[in-house]
Amino acid sequence: MSKFRVRTENSVAELSWARLFHSESARHLIATESKPDAPVESGSTSKLDQLVARRKIANLGGGEERIESQHKRGKMTAHERMLALFDKGSFTELDTFVSHRSTDIGLDKQRFEGDSVVTGYGTINGRIVFAYAQDFTVLGGSLSLVAGLKISKVMDHAMRTGAPIIGINDSGGARIQEGIDSLAGYGEIFKRNTLASGVVPQITIIAGPAAGGAVYSPALTDFIYMVEGIGQMYITGPDVVKSVTGEEVSHEDLGGAAMHASRSGVAHFTAESEDACFTHVRALLSFLPSNNAESAPSIESTDSPDRSDTELRNVVPDAANQPYDVMDVITKVVDNGEFLPVHHNFAPNVVVGFGRLDGRSIGVVANQANQMAGMLDIDASDKAARFVRFCDAFNIPLVTFVDVPGFMPGTHQEYGGIIRHGAKLLYAYVEATVPKMAVILRKAYGGAYIVMSSKELRSDLNLAWPGSEIAVMGPEGAVNVISRRDIAEADDPVAKRAELTADYRDRFANPYVAANRGYIDNIIDPAQTRPELVKALRMLESKVDSIPPKKHGNIPL
Ligand code: HXC
Repeated sequence: MSKFRVRTENSVAELSWARLFHSESARHLIATESKPDAPVESGSTSKLDQLVARRKIANLGGGEERIESQHKRGKMTAHERMLALFDKGSFTELDTFVSHRSTDIGLDKQRFEGDSVVTGYGTINGRIVFAYAQDFTVLGGSLSLVAGLKISKVMDHAMRTGAPIIGINDSGGARIQEGIDSLAGYGEIFKRNTLASGVVPQITIIAGPAAGGAVYSPALTDFIYMVEGIGQMYITGPDVVKSVTGEEVSHEDLGGAAMHASRSGVAHFTAESEDACFTHVRALLSFLPSNNAESAPSIESTDSPDRSDTELRNVVPDAANQPYDVMDVITKVVDNGEFLPVHHNFAPNVVVGFGRLDGRSIGVVANQANQMAGMLDIDASDKAARFVRFCDAFNIPLVTFVDVPGFMPGTHQEYGGIIRHGAKLLYAYVEATVPKMAVILRKAYGGAYIVMSSKELRSDLNLAWPGSEIAVMGPEGAVNVISRRDIAEADDPVAKRAELTADYRDRFANPYVAANRGYIDNIIDPAQTRPELVKALRMLESKVDSIPPKKHGNIPL
């Protein structure tokens, strides 16, 4: 059907409008669809045609050539991303016809309906979610003031309705031609990211460049996904790095998915494709409430709450220093063995992630014995602390599996501030008011024992396996400190050390001293871990707890 007809007054107006949007797609429509001999139609039909035409142009973003170029780069368009992310047929776009009003540096000739971002809402697994997707085909997805305001509008909706917000980033940053207006657009977004923190879940997907100050909106959100090969984040690109520091580094090594997911910890997840990313985001959301006033989602569990697992008796080796994979413990305990690790490649000496117990979402924190013996270091402390705070903010009960020989020693850690980083984890556990349960699997030594959700940090129910050692430090270390002189003066120092170590182990390196004093609530057969935790979770269902009223605490950042 013809969209533009040059003979009527209306169609003259439409043509002028199309010219106003100096986009390739508008020009294309004018060239192919303006037919001078086409019959004249009545006003209302023509208005509907105009709507259809304008919407069509808006949907083309920067135009067909740029869409092709986007596809050639292995990237979906903003609209395609929305359709792939949301439940089929549920995406509703807002602000389709917003465009910038700038005229500087040729912007008056580069005006696109919808500008550089697609915004709206839809459902994911049947629940309302808001989202925005930056449109790289429009001026490189650069953020104009109106793009910032479009994003702000859906963030406001998310806050008022109590729904998660997802941002898909693919942008060259601040729209350089707009200058300070563009920065104001960013400011509006950062403000909302901060105010929404702990109120609604915020998820970022990096599916293109995210450079300069633009990275700080993602950084303020709860979870960052990076799509491998196309997602990059950095404060300054390789050229600036070279000119300032002399370093030569590729885009990927400086700010690619693998780097951020393993070294900087900026990214929580990577995905090999956009489709895989959207599938993962949908899975993540299934564990989360829509806002902080809701309980964690509960589903009908197909796994028996009474299921015991005798294999758990053999997961942890008898020898205190032998490694094992704590994932074997986690997956044997949670419903149907389903566990969604967060920050999987960053600080692997601690495992955090989501699972379900009895159908209810839980957050799991676990020392990973096969990485640095499960010691806590700077990155592990940051990782676990942030996860604990997320779970607490969104009413997700915490289950902590403890096997920790201590904090990582060394100048690297001390100079890096292990003291203040480790304190974050303490702070997070103490402040958390959600149901908290812990199971000590093997070692729980010293300060690290206290940090890992000990009773003293307001944990609700702490259990220990029979082989666990709850002490100030390991027997060998303890004997070296307190019996150094006895050992040195002994006829056979080696035998003496062995004898004293065995004695210390018998006395202190077991769970019975802690159980005797009530520092743990019970010692359990490892096979019964799941049923015991399910019972505890049910018992804690109605838990009410709070922290003293204050403006806010001062977590050691
Ligand atoms: C306006 C921009 C733009 C921007 C890209 N474009 N970035 N237009 N403002 N920031 C335009 C390009 O001119 C080009 O238009 C089109 O988008 C596609 O860009 P290309 O360079 O052709 O694409 P590509 O080669 O893939 O490179 C992508 C890129 C690069 C790496 C993002 O464009 C780039 O380096 N852009 C500038 C990044 C930057 O310095 N941004 C400002 C950061 S400071 P045409 O019409 O020629 O095709 C910042 C401050 C935020 O963001 C502060 C918040 C507080």
